[in-house]
Amino acid sequence: MRIILLGAPGAGKGTQAAVISKKLGTPHIATGDLFRAALGQGTDLGNKAKAYMDKGELVPDDITVAMVLERIALDDAQTGYILDGFPRTVNQGVALDQALEKNGESIDMAILVDVSDAELVKRLSGRSICRTCQTPYHSVNNPPKETGVCDLDGGELYQRDDDKAETVINRLQVYSNETAPLIQFFESQSKLVRINGEQDISVVEKQLLDIIETK
Ligand code: AP5
Ligand code: MG
Repeated sequence: MRIILLGAPGAGKGTQAAVISKKLGTPHIATGDLFRAALGQGTDLGNKAKAYMDKGELVPDDITVAMVLERIALDDAQTGYILDGFPRTVNQGVALDQALEKNGESIDMAILVDVSDAELVKRLSGRSICRTCQTPYHSVNNPPKETGVCDLDGGELYQRDDDKAETVINRLQVYSNETAPLIQFFESQSKLVRINGEQDISVVEKQLLDIIETK
């Protein structure tokens, strides 16, 4: 199954995509994680992306689309994937549809994880992520077993540069201007499913899995 997780910064896309990916046995492809990994490896792609990410702006569509098409062409993505943070503009959505159509494929559903701005700010200010596997934690909502250490691989937890208050405000604005129009885009394709992301992590998880299993 080819699933898109749509939602504002901090909505819980990464938290939930990890669970669905494990359950379905399909890869979790997160454009933000790919850019951060490229930056960690010091590649050209990573350095180009950093300039945009640090300001909370979107990386240009051509760079982002090329990276995703390359990733979904790999063997492990042939039966499906969970896209987290992509598409993020209507142009990216159109480019993805066109590329899939060439192979007789299409997106099965786009799930919007809906959360209010006030809650998003709280989540991002309390978040830390693993330097190695990028798993997100929250100091109150989802703390690691040992402070500063990832439960899954023992990696060091750190705060993302773009989770600083002034950058968060810009990311929310960019979401509303550039990404929110995708809600209408997927609605017009009858692919949009909404979920209340302001419930406990385990409740959101259960509802998401129910939606996917009944598809
Ligand atoms: P990206 O890494 O995709 O960041 P984002 O979309 O801003 O989303 P986040 O990762 O911040 O939030 P999330 O929804 O994954 O929430 P999480 O599960 O961590 O992108 C970063 C940057 O890369 C962009 O700004 C842009 O520059 C660039 N980029 C990426 N994709 C791009 C694209 N397609 N085009 C162009 N540029 C692109 O959860 C957040 C916190 O809340 C955690 O602490 C978690 O523990 C907690 N939490 C989760 N769920 C719940 C819950 N139900 N209740 C309480 N707490 C919860
Ligand atoms: Mg994320």
